[in-house]
Amino acid sequence: MHQITIIIMLHLLLCSVLVFQGCTQEPPPGEKQKITIVFKHGKVFGDPEPVKRLIEEFEEQNPDIRVKDETLPAATDEQHQFYAINLEGKSSDFDVFGIDVIWVQEFARAGWLRDLSHILPQERREDFFQGPIESATYQNRIYAIPWYIDAGVLYYRKDLLEKYGFSPPKSWYELVRIASEITRKEPGLYGFIWQGKQYEGLVCDVLEYIWSNDGDIIIDDRVVIDSPENQQALTLMRDLIYRYRVTPEFVTTAVEDSTRHIFSRGRAVFMRNWPYAWNLFERDDSPIKGKVGVSALPGFPGHRSASTLGGWQLGVNKYSKHPKEAERFISFFTSYEAQKTLSLTVGYRPTLRKLYDDEDLIRAQPFIASLYEVFERARPRPVTPFYMMISQVMQPEFSAVLSRIKEPEEALKTARKQIEFILSVED
Ligand code: GLC
Repeated sequence: MHQITIIIMLHLLLCSVLVFQGCTQEPPPGEKQKITIVFKHGKVFGDPEPVKRLIEEFEEQNPDIRVKDETLPAATDEQHQFYAINLEGKSSDFDVFGIDVIWVQEFARAGWLRDLSHILPQERREDFFQGPIESATYQNRIYAIPWYIDAGVLYYRKDLLEKYGFSPPKSWYELVRIASEITRKEPGLYGFIWQGKQYEGLVCDVLEYIWSNDGDIIIDDRVVIDSPENQQALTLMRDLIYRYRVTPEFVTTAVEDSTRHIFSRGRAVFMRNWPYAWNLFERDDSPIKGKVGVSALPGFPGHRSASTLGGWQLGVNKYSKHPKEAERFISFFTSYEAQKTLSLTVGYRPTLRKLYDDEDLIRAQPFIASLYEVFERARPRPVTPFYMMISQVMQPEFSAVLSRIKEPEEALKTARKQIEFILSVED
């Protein structure tokens, strides 16, 4: 009886050792257990391969980490919705994620982002453009690392402007004149295309008219959106479509990439867009290769031109189970070398100032040196945790003006009242 008990016990012990071994899946001797982190970001326009190759390079240099690359739709509003829902639910399904410059305040206030101030101590913040650093800072702490910068720019057909003896326009009215003349002589071309759909991109475009007329949305907690300057700005945008007819009506449903496609087929003289598009125009199969110029946007006569600051940062999900590995990934992906590669390939413009002196980069993309000033001066949208709510008030009002449902004065007055209400409730 005693012997049988011992045999049974030994048998059970052996079984449990085997089961335990099976469960832990010990890696082969000499190889460390890999940790998988998930990198979530918006879809890359054009060819996503360079991003994948950079991820592989990181994995080679960090053999203990595997990165799962997961993309979301490109539209910022849709991505915002995804993150807000998932982070509200404390999801740890992703570790590193792309954050639009306009979300950092909101996400940091909600406690959804890991504090990354130690990655960017004060003395390193100077290496970056100031705008992205301000957007990444909440209550003096850094919550995301600037990845690439965007600022609205004017693309123009260099060949056509030269043919008719024009230089890039400095004022909106000059643009109207040039676009009208060239489209009259070159039938089948659109004059000027931009982003007029009801979404975040429309707010970016409208602000460039508002700021280049010395208007604003909020000054020192005062909502000033219904000013005469802003009325004039919206009126001009509407006039581009229905009065001057240099902008086709379909812009009221257009986004960045739909306008980029039209321009890249050689169908428009001018386009407002972000700087990513240039690399795609210069591809060997592009019908407009070598024919495109990029300049600062025009402004109202006598005023300085203004560009909306856009761009993306990388942050760590507060609920991530692998924050240290996530930080290593971010340091790699925002490094000098990674930013250089991404500018050369997918057209993501560096947030690191020094890259604008990089010889290889300037040789390959001479125009980016001329954009340095535009990036330096690009203006952030209102930096507040309630920005998305404010934007969601502005979007339908601006859109109603462009589709001639409302007069600018009425639309701006409604927006003012609603923004004042948001700020009074959220204080
Ligand atoms: C670009 C910009 C981003 C902006 C968005 C609007 O992705 O980088 O900041 O919010 O466009 O469509």
